[in-house]
Amino acid sequence: MNLAERDVSLRELMDDPDCDPRLLAATYRRFGLVNRLVAGWTGVYRRTLRPYLSGLGRPARVLDLGCGGGDVAAHLAALARADGLRVQWVGADPDPRAIEAAVARAASDVSFRCTGSDALRESGERFDAVLSNHVLHHLDTAELAAFVYDSAALSTGLVLHGDIERGRLAYALYGVGILPLAPGTFLRTDGLRSIRRSYRAAELASRLPEGWRVEHPARFRVLAVRDPRA
Ligand SMILES: C[S@@+](CC[C@H](N)C(=O)[O-])C[C@H]1O[C@@H](n2cnc3c(N)ncnc32)[C@H](O)[C@@H]1O
Repeated sequence: MNLAERDVSLRELMDDPDCDPRLLAATYRRFGLVNRLVAGWTGVYRRTLRPYLSGLGRPARVLDLGCGGGDVAAHLAALARADGLRVQWVGADPDPRAIEAAVARAASDVSFRCTGSDALRESGERFDAVLSNHVLHHLDTAELAAFVYDSAALSTGLVLHGDIERGRLAYALYGVGILPLAPGTFLRTDGLRSIRRSYRAAELASRLPEGWRVEHPARFRVLAVRDPRA
């Protein structure tokens, strides 16, 4: 397996509009556990998001762009609630199949909308923070630039885009580690394709405009950060 370069020719099974809806729904449900295990948002919340939100000293609104099945927004909402923070979490995704799955995770402080970053930006709505998980590797060069631009315009402060970092060890470990969770879902095929499509930190940094930096929040992870306070 050659992982020296991104393989942007690969398409994920769940991106096929004609994919099996039962497998897709099962995949969205199981992301709740898989993202918890691999995506590292608990650490990002504790180190970066929680201090930022509590520092605002008022209720906040946070947008999860490309929320998919909504599990990351729901997980962060649970963490913030437990900390006594008053935050409204909004998940947005232009794919109606994602929002259909996400609404099962809605709560009094978590809502979902079927819309993309461009339409939201054009609507003039603004949030205290914007984040995304596993969206960047999906996008082509022009889409990435637009997504990053939209996310910065949508936030009055912090923006955090978390993703996988491409690498042989990540590929090998995911290929084996996902086996118990993969049956009846697209998780194994799509996860491995995602790794092959994903960036290394320096590659991602070279695609971002001034004012952004790329961190390693956890093993096999990259985090694109725009923090106007920095
Ligand atoms: C692999 S999924 C990630 C879903 C979810 N964040 C997760 O971690 O499970 C990527 C999602 O990004 C969404 N997406 C792509 N371009 C977008 C845009 N410009 N604005 C909002 N969402 C977008 C897609 O519809 C897709 O649901």
